[in-house]
Amino acid sequence: MYHIISIRDFERRELDYMLDKAEEFDGRACDPRALEGKLLALLFFEPSTRTRMSFEAAMARLGGRSISMDNVEASSVVKGETLADTIRVVSGYVDAIVLRHPKEGAARMASEFSGVPVINAGDGAGQHPSQTLLDLYTIRQSMPIDGIDLGLLGDLRYGRTAHSLAYALSLYGAKLHVIAPNGLELPAGIVSELDERGMEVVEYEDVNDIIREIDVLYVTRIQRERFPDTASYFKVASSYRITPDLLADVRQHLIILHPLPRAGEIDPGVDRLPYARYFEQSRNGVPVRMALLHEVIR
Ligand code: NCD
Repeated sequence: MYHIISIRDFERRELDYMLDKAEEFDGRACDPRALEGKLLALLFFEPSTRTRMSFEAAMARLGGRSISMDNVEASSVVKGETLADTIRVVSGYVDAIVLRHPKEGAARMASEFSGVPVINAGDGAGQHPSQTLLDLYTIRQSMPIDGIDLGLLGDLRYGRTAHSLAYALSLYGAKLHVIAPNGLELPAGIVSELDERGMEVVEYEDVNDIIREIDVLYVTRIQRERFPDTASYFKVASSYRITPDLLADVRQHLIILHPLPRAGEIDPGVDRLPYARYFEQSRNGVPVRMALLHEVIR
């Protein structure tokens, strides 16, 4: 059994293995009864559309079933049950748990109390490893990941998808170009860890300064729910937006990714340009999560 908690725990060959496996499932070369009789629990203490539904779809496509705690307010959490107890109980019902929680470190803690594999589907501003696998998968569909120049734009302070992706890319010799509004820069601790991993990280004030020199632009939403108050959110809201005009003279093979949901950072006019890959990216959540579930559920 193994837990999927952080991209930091992965070696390059393990990531490649999961991507290859996802590719097999994408080609439908899979047994639709591979996980027959297996049960997955979805514990989402934060909103989700893609992550949750694609895990459910992935489980169903492999012949397994999912159960979920639909409404945290209707569960014993409101009676003061700790996450540790909830996990101990639920792990007695199922073969694996997918957990999304607002507290950084929650998934790691849960894995210590669980008798079955725990997959981190987002722990606060921490990590979101299954998202990273589908991000890498989407990049690999267009170009080899090795040595790419990737622009990471948006809320790099609270954005867990950005954190996970940055760590993964450090295993591929990629160069990171970071563009964040004031106060939402990549945390210094992450920058130094990336540096130790031999990754070059360069900061820019404006996406326009780098957009013509990158292969991938990864756009993220400002994580409004992590802000201490609405005034500080509105100070940075709408501070960047990708428009068709901005994309004049970019590299021909540029791809634009976004974990979604978007909240105004990408003009809908960009959707019909050949660079836009964010809807394919979200679709890729299914084969990637099939591969993950197939791997961890025994
Ligand atoms: C992301 C998340 O929850 O971190 N969503 C997702 O899983 N695709 C990104 C976000 O909410 O901005």
